[in-house]
Amino acid sequence: NMKNENAIIKTDFGNANGKSVDLYSIQFPNELEVQVTNYGGIVTSLKVPDKNGVMEDVVLGYDELQGYLNETPYFGALIGRYGNRIAKGQFELEGETYDLATNNNQNHLHGGIKGFDKVVWEVIEVVDEENRKGLSLKYVSADGEEGYPGELTTIVDYIFTPNSFEITYEATTSKTTVVNLTQHSYFNLSGNASEDILGHELTINASLFLPVDNTLIPTGELRPVRDTPFDFTNPKLIGEDVNATNEQIGFGGGFDHCWVMTEAPTAQIRKVATLSHQQSGRSMEVHTKEPAIQFYSGNFLDGTITGKNEKVYHQRYGLCLETQHLPDSPNQGQFPSTVLKKGETYSTATKYVFSTSN
Ligand code: GLA
Repeated sequence: NMKNENAIIKTDFGNANGKSVDLYSIQFPNELEVQVTNYGGIVTSLKVPDKNGVMEDVVLGYDELQGYLNETPYFGALIGRYGNRIAKGQFELEGETYDLATNNNQNHLHGGIKGFDKVVWEVIEVVDEENRKGLSLKYVSADGEEGYPGELTTIVDYIFTPNSFEITYEATTSKTTVVNLTQHSYFNLSGNASEDILGHELTINASLFLPVDNTLIPTGELRPVRDTPFDFTNPKLIGEDVNATNEQIGFGGGFDHCWVMTEAPTAQIRKVATLSHQQSGRSMEVHTKEPAIQFYSGNFLDGTITGKNEKVYHQRYGLCLETQHLPDSPNQGQFPSTVLKKGETYSTATKYVFSTSN
């Protein structure tokens, strides 16, 4: 039977939080091959062809679950409840002050000590059609978990096609809360992390970015990228300005900033960034409904992590393009709201589209 020839394969990936977790292998032969675990919704491997048709892995990660359990800079993970930083781990909502973990110097980062990247997601559906394959993941976060109000029910669909990775996020809450979900894959289109990402060319369709303080919290200003190292409105090599003498580059240790495409979420998914690596011929577009995107140039990677296939991840061996609402929105009333109320549905989508040229 044609349909089953490339069926999704589920294998045991070990145990986390007292639960067994699985690894799902999804393949479109010679086009896209991916592995995903329901621990943290982590994409552990994503292979696409280079210009010679050679399938190689374009994301960073570990060979074994243990790597993700030990310590990981969020390789491949689903991030929640709040992607990016909340200043001093505090915010006010409907007259109440909420205290979150300060797990990034004095700030809160990526949902806290045990964010959505460290929980076991329930696989509620496996989609296994000819050109659409993937998982529907569900996690119910208890009221008060990591300090956030409201029981939050989140459903994330990961759908793969022969050339794309499409993510749909939905969440509902029992009480007013804040939500900002994202995906934290580290990309390196050279394949198997064979070099740093400074030779990748990047375009970001945004004319504004958020300057930060020295703890990476936005100052509140939306600054034009024009005539700054943050101008990626035309394709530019990442290495060109990553070490520029510039206060903002200094604070980030390179690029670790949020680019703002629009000052409100859109109902339409649209292209916001393009990454390409000339030598391999691989390119990736990022499309999203979100108003902003964090571009992190892997500055904190420092050669202390050995990832898949014995590869040492040196500084800037991977980069993240995390679609999202603006960091610290719960404390910055002028930013688009991240508040979700009971009875409402948080709903957003992002897709990464791959292609190869000569
Ligand atoms: C995000 C942050 C970075 C860093 C990485 C994880 O992208 O913006 O500063 O913390 O996550 O290492």
